[in-house]
Amino acid sequence: MKKRIHISEIADYVDQSVELKGWLYNIRSSGKLMFPELRDGTGIIQGVVVKSAVPEKVWEDFSKLTQESSVIVNGTITKHPKKENVFELQVSDLQIIQIAEPYPITPKEHGIEFLADRRHLWIRSQKQASILRVRSEIVQAIRDYFYNNGFTLFDPPIFTPNACEGTSTLFSTDYFDLGKAYLSQSGQLYAEAGALALGKVYTFGPTFRAENSMTRRHITEFWMMEPEMAYYDIDDNMDLIEDFLEYVVQRVIKKMKPELEILGRDISKLEKVKKPFPRITYTQAVEILHRKDIPLIRKTSNGEEQIRPFPWGEDFGAPHEEAIVEDFDKPVMVHRWPSEAKAFYMKRDPNDTKIALGVDVLAPEGFGEIIGGSQREDNIELLISRIKEHELPMEEFEWYLDLRRYGSVPHSGFGMGLERMVSWICNLEHIRESIPFPRRPNRIRP
Ligand code: 4AD
Ligand code: MG
Repeated sequence: MKKRIHISEIADYVDQSVELKGWLYNIRSSGKLMFPELRDGTGIIQGVVVKSAVPEKVWEDFSKLTQESSVIVNGTITKHPKKENVFELQVSDLQIIQIAEPYPITPKEHGIEFLADRRHLWIRSQKQASILRVRSEIVQAIRDYFYNNGFTLFDPPIFTPNACEGTSTLFSTDYFDLGKAYLSQSGQLYAEAGALALGKVYTFGPTFRAENSMTRRHITEFWMMEPEMAYYDIDDNMDLIEDFLEYVVQRVIKKMKPELEILGRDISKLEKVKKPFPRITYTQAVEILHRKDIPLIRKTSNGEEQIRPFPWGEDFGAPHEEAIVEDFDKPVMVHRWPSEAKAFYMKRDPNDTKIALGVDVLAPEGFGEIIGGSQREDNIELLISRIKEHELPMEEFEWYLDLRRYGSVPHSGFGMGLERMVSWICNLEHIRESIPFPRRPNRIRP
């Protein structure tokens, strides 16, 4: 009796007769033997076809198969004679569903733009499929963490009338008779309303930034997860970040070993992501840059200018983030930022008004900022003056100010960029491989 199974389950079916439905990944032949590699979305298995053991038609049909032809294959699962935890399929029968046309992506090297143009096919390759499986596990770990810790999922709108993270990076669209709508840069302001209603909430959805930056870390459409908690100060916020990141990373390395191996990830580095994480102030981070003599690089009309020592007050770029985390093997929490460099909603340090109670988390191994968060300004007068300073339209923030009029409390939250997290955990050179269909300034297709 044959049983339809998935490749992810083969270890449970040794010596049993099974049916696999999938696609031909690759095929090698040597005389009277053929070795088709089959994939079914859950994994890859090598088949063994022995000419003398199968009907002639099965042998001939295998010789017709092209890469990515869709097939149903029957056979018996066996343990690999030499390799531990590797299984093979001793093929007995084949049903062809479709013979694929010559497939554009072959095992040879292709240029990145060639692959990006064929992203709808590229995601079938073993590495890309592994990344997307890890991404799915990260999302599940995030949802489980917040569910198990008493948070309520709170879905903010995507069409919004105003900016959250500054007006320079908004995408806009026409919205009936109501003028312009903007695609959300962050669900935070709505999450704050959620926290004052429900205590602890988190959002998880697509966010948009019209930044014309072609870096390895930026996409224009990305998924952000943003928890927001009433009665949390900046230290409570950092405690939560630590606990949350440890949970997600440890769970992913436990559940996704095969995928991380395919990606060549050094898991021992991720195993070190355990509480407590280093906490340094922005000022201490700048001291590290001074000690390592890392300048600020400013674009000028005739090229670049290097400014030494790194001026206090400036935001960090990739080289700064790399230098700051270099001596640590865990995520580094940089807190207490110059208020000038940060968003309008961050609470000022009561001891020093030049400082905002913000925190950025920099991933180890130079993967850059994965989380940005803060304690929020809960004083209505200060918030109003900040909205004016940032030249934001006051009338659009009236509802947000209500949160300070009716039962204002200290509260905090943070935002984690999912694709930055995937890039770090999977050790990706470029963020474009962390999402099924990346959107960048020069790419909206496929
Ligand atoms: O630091 P950001 O801009 O913070 C906020 O949006 C806050 N409202 C979050 C909060 O406190 N609730 O963005 C948060 C994170 C960054 O740390 C980064 O991981 C990711 O979102 N991110 C991007 N990821 C990919 N491409 C981009 N263009 C990104 N911009 C931000
Ligand atoms: Mg940030």
